[in-house]
Amino acid sequence: MRAIRYHEYGDSSVLHLEDAPDARPGAGEVVVQVAGTSVNMLDVAIRLGILQNDAPIAFPHIPGVDVAGRISEVGPGVTDWHTGDAVIAFLPATAAGAAAEYVSAPAALLAPAPASVDLADAAALPLAGLTAWQALVENARLRAGQSILVNGAGGGVGGFAVQLARREAATVTATASDRSRERVRAAGADRIVDYAATPVAEQLAGERFDVVLNLVRNSPVEAAALADLVVDRGVFVSATTPGPERPERNIRVEQVAVRSDPVQLTRLVALVDGGELVLDIAQRLPLADLHVAHDQALHGMLPGKTVLIV
Ligand SMILES: NC(=O)c1ccc[n+]([C@@H]2O[C@H](COP(=O)([O-])OP(=O)(O)OC[C@H]3O[C@@H](n4cnc5c(N)ncnc54)[C@H](OP(=O)(O)O)[C@@H]3O)[C@@H](O)[C@H]2O)c1
Repeated sequence: MRAIRYHEYGDSSVLHLEDAPDARPGAGEVVVQVAGTSVNMLDVAIRLGILQNDAPIAFPHIPGVDVAGRISEVGPGVTDWHTGDAVIAFLPATAAGAAAEYVSAPAALLAPAPASVDLADAAALPLAGLTAWQALVENARLRAGQSILVNGAGGGVGGFAVQLARREAATVTATASDRSRERVRAAGADRIVDYAATPVAEQLAGERFDVVLNLVRNSPVEAAALADLVVDRGVFVSATTPGPERPERNIRVEQVAVRSDPVQLTRLVALVDGGELVLDIAQRLPLADLHVAHDQALHGMLPGKTVLIV
């Protein structure tokens, strides 16, 4: 099969489209004929070698933790899934990924693909959707009527976070630059703050939010300034730079560590098919251009969810 692989850690030039051995299903696994994969910073961090301890890989490695496609083969012990089923998953980061024509996937991680969108586009959902869900539901425990600041709403996770927060009837303030303003507004943000002009914490000085969700790889000083925007007894949730402890104000500080969860993913799929969650694809690229999206991700320049069409 054809796959994007890399044989050593490094910059995006290590990514090559080449022949690779066919994917085979082990016990409890299926093989998925990939329609689409997506790009997340996790793929880039693994390629750079900065997660060697947490996510050790074997070379050559096929990146791509998000997959959408159809099951082409079912391994021993798999009874719930069948050839031809359309599925999505957040795959184990250390195994061969979905930047390929086929990928082996643990059956226990699969969710049915949304029926209402193009199958390749569904690859936008797993990691980013689960991150937003876990950040808001598990970490923030966001409730109706609360106010939330989503810093980094122009990105893939941010787009889902804004939609899910609005669905919870929260009041959403979101940061976005010009290029993402309309997309973030369409996602349901009540107010947009252009982070490119003046630091966000400076623009919002004096305001307070029940929840601040930080999705930007900023400095500890910038993270601390954002934490100052949380109400007493509020929550600071970060998927990036750890938040500062604020015991004197009883602020709960939470760090997101996304995990694959097929039950939650199935709920997100139901929201998509119910018209309550939109898969807003900012960019579709051929698989051969994976390096372009990796470079955009590294520099915080991905324009939202990017899908690689296989
Ligand atoms: N801890 C975890 O489990 C976990 C899971 C998933 C993701 N993450 C992390 O969460 C972050 C967001 O993930 P993602 O997939 O949404 O990333 P992404 O799609 O690459 O986000 C890129 C977006 O960030 C915005 N941005 C860049 N610099 C900014 C700044 N200084 N202030 C505000 N917005 C800025 C830009 O939006 P504009 O278009 O508005 O300029 C850009 O489109 C990444 O750092 C990722 O590594 C962590």
